[in-house]
Amino acid sequence: MAASYRAFVLRNTRLRPTPGLEEVRLHLADDVLPLWHAVQVETGDLDADLPYWAFAWGGGLAIGRYLREHPQAVAGRRVFDLASGSGLCAIAAMHVGAAGATAADIDPFAATAIELNARANGYRMTVIRRDVLDEDPPDVDVILAGDWSYEARLAGRVLPWLQQARDRGIDVLVGDPGRRYLPSDELVELASYEVRTTSELEDLELTQGRVYALRSS
Ligand SMILES: C[S@@+](CC[C@H](N)C(=O)[O-])C[C@H]1O[C@@H](n2cnc3c(N)ncnc32)[C@H](O)[C@@H]1O
Repeated sequence: MAASYRAFVLRNTRLRPTPGLEEVRLHLADDVLPLWHAVQVETGDLDADLPYWAFAWGGGLAIGRYLREHPQAVAGRRVFDLASGSGLCAIAAMHVGAAGATAADIDPFAATAIELNARANGYRMTVIRRDVLDEDPPDVDVILAGDWSYEARLAGRVLPWLQQARDRGIDVLVGDPGRRYLPSDELVELASYEVRTTSELEDLELTQGRVYALRSS
């Protein structure tokens, strides 16, 4: 873990229970925009990604709640958390007995936050920092994919990758709070939860987070 990323995450977040999923402790920030500005200053990149990693998003929270109610979905199984952000879904899976978890995110700050958060919850997990969407799906039992349909381009890449995984026999769980590019026609709703995201970009409103499986081909 690069020392500067680690110091940045620790300086700009506070380790605390995740609202609505208190058994998962995460390094969370309060405000997106000041933190985004700090990332831009730190990296010298005005186009730096939003610091998704410092917040728990509606899709991930819904998956966490689903796993709490349905531990058998991951217990004793190998889990892959795509677009992991803080590592929320992977950590929630480990809490209910996953055999192991791998978390993937393209943002180097996210990779650092995932490692810190995993450790804070007493877990070790593999963290992948590259874009896996151009690769074959991983050799795992379950893929968790929380909150990725906020951008058309990303949503257009994630769906076929998840479908490819499903066609290879991997279980896929998608979590989403009603984002614009959610491919609803390709999904089957499994559960719905009231969740409160930790980002003020979403007004900290209670919102409906839904968990889906992929429609069979
Ligand atoms: C809204 S956050 C969701 C984080 C977490 N799953 C949750 O629900 O709290 C979306 C995450 O997707 C990541 N991301 C974007 N493109 C990606 C890609 N090609 N592969 C992996 N992660 C990606 C972003 O860096 C960001 O951390």
